[in-house]
Amino acid sequence: MNEYLDNSNKQIKLAIMFVTGYGGEGYSWRFNDSNPKAYTDINAYIELAKLAEQGKIHMLFIADTPAMVGAGVNGDMARKSPMFVMEPMTMLAAVATHTQKIGLVATYSTTYNLPYNLARQLKTLDLISGGRVGWNAVTTGTREVAYNFGTSPLPDTTTRYEMADEMVEAVQSLWGSFGENAYITDQQTGEFIKMDQLTPANFNGQYYQTQGPLPIPPSPQGQPPIFQAGPSFEGVEMAGKFASGVYANPFTIEEARHYRNLLKQSAIKYGRNPEEINMFSGFMVTVGDTYEEALARRHQLLDFMRKDAFDGQIRYLSAMIGINLPDLNLNEPLPKSLQYQATPNPSDPRSLRAVELIKQGLSPRDVLANGVINYHPVVVGTPDDVADFIEEWFKAGATDGFSIVPESQKGVKDFVEKVVPVLQKRGLYHLDYEGNTLREHLGVPKQYGVRK
Ligand SMILES: Cc1cc2nc3c(=O)[nH]c(=O)nc-3n(C[C@H](O)[C@H](O)[C@H](O)COP(=O)(O)O)c2cc1C
Repeated sequence: MNEYLDNSNKQIKLAIMFVTGYGGEGYSWRFNDSNPKAYTDINAYIELAKLAEQGKIHMLFIADTPAMVGAGVNGDMARKSPMFVMEPMTMLAAVATHTQKIGLVATYSTTYNLPYNLARQLKTLDLISGGRVGWNAVTTGTREVAYNFGTSPLPDTTTRYEMADEMVEAVQSLWGSFGENAYITDQQTGEFIKMDQLTPANFNGQYYQTQGPLPIPPSPQGQPPIFQAGPSFEGVEMAGKFASGVYANPFTIEEARHYRNLLKQSAIKYGRNPEEINMFSGFMVTVGDTYEEALARRHQLLDFMRKDAFDGQIRYLSAMIGINLPDLNLNEPLPKSLQYQATPNPSDPRSLRAVELIKQGLSPRDVLANGVINYHPVVVGTPDDVADFIEEWFKAGATDGFSIVPESQKGVKDFVEKVVPVLQKRGLYHLDYEGNTLREHLGVPKQYGVRK
């Protein structure tokens, strides 16, 4: 194993992904232990953030798409809660004032923003939070976003990544335009700031231009670290240039290790230390005191689905395993002869797990309840089962950390109260925060302005 993939002397880093105040599943708002109005209830977010902080979770990760997509089938919010919060920065400003340590990573598009606004808002939030903010700089691949911003069509991938490079540099130039020691506020002499330490950013790119300076001083971490999500060649290049964290969605250890290696190589290519780039692999979790208890909760999620949606899942599962399921009893294991015939569909990496569970004798409905069609690997089980998954991936050098997506509000509590102590006992996870800022939590160096 390459030395920079070796995790033997390391501990995992954990993010909790905030999909909405409900957790990571579109139907979880219906659990009787959920607050059905969590989408619009700031106290629900604050409560979750405080819980996560009790578990010494390194950061909250706020995914975002500024369009009504991913909320259900084609953005249908009729039955499913959305996959986004109302507005990330506004929500995090409130959360920041009720937390002390936890990192706050917000997703903002590099295609559908202007550098001055973004630099200003993120640096303000970084100051409000005492240096705990990160920016997940995504290029936006969703055409509905283009419609919302009146600039359809969506630029092609190459253009979007050219824009992303410019956006990140322009924002960092603005951040660095206010001298690190310029904010003196000397009441005796009457000097508020050292004007000679403010220099215009004068960023003059093909897509973005901005003059500056931005009149906002540094936060305790200087400026927010950059995160990236998007596995294309261009995405990996961007991560190598700028990212301190990458949000990834591998489904197998091999896939994850390959991707992590690409990211570290990309950092080296751009003259950076590979340790500075932290890969967070998404995985979803439902914890119970027993496997049966956890599975029962996942069955409830299936019960919340309308019949047509459930039938769609069964058809999809059929395609994953190469067996026509609708005519079979979905609550019983498949006959042995059919189990034997199950074959993973090579076009979907999640099929391997689906076939494995069918061959273990789980009924098709139980297989679905295990979350084989979710957007990340799903672990359903006891705190030890979840810790085993984390340990296996981490020891195999597959990832630097995880972005955990609990299924519900209760799932966050269960993870913090039941899984975190197991990870700590195994020596895999820290007992307390390493410092006060997100950069300290991630172990990435200070950077102010553009990288020199
Ligand atoms: C794990 C993961 C999380 C992502 N989260 C977001 C997000 O919150 N908002 C968004 O607009 N795009 C998000 N993306 C999409 C990427 O920004 C990108 O547009 C898409 O993956 C295509 O990227 P590529 O062109 O590099 O392949 C995410 C991608 C991945 C892999």
